[in-house]
Amino acid sequence: MKKRKLKLKKQAYYVLAGIMIIAVSIILGMNYYNDYQYKKTTEYKLVEKGYTIKEATKIQEKLKEEEINKILEKEKNDLILKLLEEKYFLMKNLDTYIEYQKKEEEKELKDIVAIVNTHANNKWYQKELETDYNLKEKMNVNKFYALKSDYTPENLIEISLNYSYGKNKLIDYAYEKFIELWNAAKEEDIHLMVNSSYRDYEEQKNIYEDYKASRGEKKADEIAAHPGHSEHQTGLVVDMTSLKEPYVEEFKASNAYKWLKEHAHEYGFIERYPEGKSYITGYSPESWHWRYVGIEVATKMHNEDITFDEYYAYYIEK
Ligand code: DAL
Ligand code: ZN
Repeated sequence: MKKRKLKLKKQAYYVLAGIMIIAVSIILGMNYYNDYQYKKTTEYKLVEKGYTIKEATKIQEKLKEEEINKILEKEKNDLILKLLEEKYFLMKNLDTYIEYQKKEEEKELKDIVAIVNTHANNKWYQKELETDYNLKEKMNVNKFYALKSDYTPENLIEISLNYSYGKNKLIDYAYEKFIELWNAAKEEDIHLMVNSSYRDYEEQKNIYEDYKASRGEKKADEIAAHPGHSEHQTGLVVDMTSLKEPYVEEFKASNAYKWLKEHAHEYGFIERYPEGKSYITGYSPESWHWRYVGIEVATKMHNEDITFDEYYAYYIEK
């Protein structure tokens, strides 16, 4: 009897030991499996590169899988983390931001991003890009994007002499919105007048060459576009001042300019070369040069306080 009891006890121990071995194996196996799975995660790979978990989380929040793979090819870099905080950061430009920042250490990161995004890290006119005509009122023309010499917009309409000092033309849909803008300004006792709008390639060439001859190339490049690079060739632009302040030199201080700054976007027009943005546009401020981009784009630009070059780079060209 005693012997049987002892045998039973022994068997129970074996069973218990067996269960314990199985349990421990399961736990170890699960740990091993979890570890194996974790090592496959992006977070682990980033941490292996030297990023903290918090930084890894941020990178994962901001970037897509294939973009993170590019980050993983590089050494850990704090500049990448700072760049990711920039609103207009574009992954395709990462290497160029890093390269450009090395040369321009004193510049703020937001400016580095804006300059690289808009190609302004290149010398003016040193990179030739072709304007996408299909974008219509959203097409970009600047010191990099050029129009073909024979490009002529369709449906140019002559501007009424009520609004213009001489013969000037605009694309029909821009003209329609210009009249709305003109009427709204008139209600505020502001009488806008167009000085110049559509100019063909040849006309722009003459203007630029005249400036170059009289004021030298550097100055000419700050105030006039090379032929093919002028927005005036798009038929989407008006140079305007007011009856009260007809000269461009005095327009900046006028009530009319103040009104345009507050309201032009409601009609789809934007100030193309604003003060303080020459490092992006390449031109001295032109308070009189207003470009039609459509209400949606103009409103977004107004709200975000960005130039069309920056808008185009981030929202269209990407
Ligand atoms: N004045 C502007 C930049 C032009 O020539 O198109
Ligand atoms: Zn102009």
